[in-house]
Amino acid sequence: MLRLLIDTDPGIDDALALFLAIASPEVQIEGITTVSGNVSISMTTHNALALLELAGATQTTVASGSARPLIRQAVFADHVHGENGIGGVQLPAPQQEPLHNKAVETIIQTILQAPGEITLVALGPLTNLALAVRCEPKIAEMVREVVIMGGAFQVPGNVTPAAEFNIYADPHAAHIVMHAGWPLRLVSLDVTNHTLMDQEQFARLAANNHPVTRSMQAMATSYIEGMGKKRGVSGIAMHDPLCLAAAIQPELITWRNAYVDIELNGTYTQGQTITYFDQDPARPTTNQPNVLASINVDKERFIALYMDTIAAYYRS
Ligand code: BDR
Ligand code: CA
Repeated sequence: MLRLLIDTDPGIDDALALFLAIASPEVQIEGITTVSGNVSISMTTHNALALLELAGATQTTVASGSARPLIRQAVFADHVHGENGIGGVQLPAPQQEPLHNKAVETIIQTILQAPGEITLVALGPLTNLALAVRCEPKIAEMVREVVIMGGAFQVPGNVTPAAEFNIYADPHAAHIVMHAGWPLRLVSLDVTNHTLMDQEQFARLAANNHPVTRSMQAMATSYIEGMGKKRGVSGIAMHDPLCLAAAIQPELITWRNAYVDIELNGTYTQGQTITYFDQDPARPTTNQPNVLASINVDKERFIALYMDTIAAYYRS
C-alpha cells in the first residue's frame, strides 16, 4: 500500500484529486491537512470534510492548518474556484469535526511514526510543510517522498507571467520547502496545463448518477464555464489530480534533475521558480539539484487512469 498524507486547499481540482486518492486501490490515506489557499482555511477545511462525507470516506482524519501565508498577505483564487471554493456546489454537511490547528503536528507525527513509509502530497500553498519541517527537521530524512503541485519551469505562471498560484501564494514557505533537503518531485504547470478534461468526459463519468460523479461534473462545469471561457480553454486543467496520480505512478511524467529556487523579492517575479536543469550548458550552476522537475506527461495514460479509477469506484 502507498501511504499518502495529503495537504490541500479544496479547491475544485483539489476535490478531483481527493476523489482519485479515495478511489485508488493501492492508496491508503493517512490523513488530510488543510491550508489557506484557493479560499480561506475555514472553507478549505469545511470542503475537505464535506468531500470525504460525500465519498463515504469519513474514517479519514482532517487536521486544519495555517490560516495565512508565512509573511505575505493571503491571496485567494475564488475567482477561479467560486466563493465556496468548489464552484458553488452544495455538499452534505460534514458530521465530522476537524482537528483544529493540528496540521503541522499531524504532518510531523505521521512521518515520524512510519519512517520511510509516508509520501507527502502537497496540493496547495506550502505553508504547513514549511512550518512542519522547521519545527521538526528530522521529517526531511524520514519522509518517503514529497510530491508537490507547484511551479512553472519553462512556461508562464497562471497568477502572474512569472508565478504559479501555489508558489505565489506563499513564496517564503516554498523557499523553505525547496531547501529542506527532502526528496522532492515538483509537478508544475509545464505538465498540468496539458492535462485538460472537458465537459463531455465529466458527463460520461456522471452518467452513472452517483453523487460523487455528479458533483464532479457540477464543479468542472462551473470551472469551465467561468475560468475556462475567460482563458479560452474548453476543459479544466487537472493540476492537483495529476500531482496525486504522479505520487502513485511517477512514470506518468518524465522528470529531470534540477536546482530550483524561489524568487522572493521581485517586483514582478515574486514566486517564480528559477530553474537550472542538471547538466544544462545553457544554464550552468554549481548548485546541486534539489528537485525532480516535471518535463513531459503521458496525457492519454493519465486521463485513462483517472477516468477508469473514478468509474470503477463510484458506482450507483
Ligand atoms: C494550483 O492552484 C490552485 O488554484 C489549484 O488548486 C492548484 O493547486 C494550480 O496553479
Ligand atoms: Ca490546490
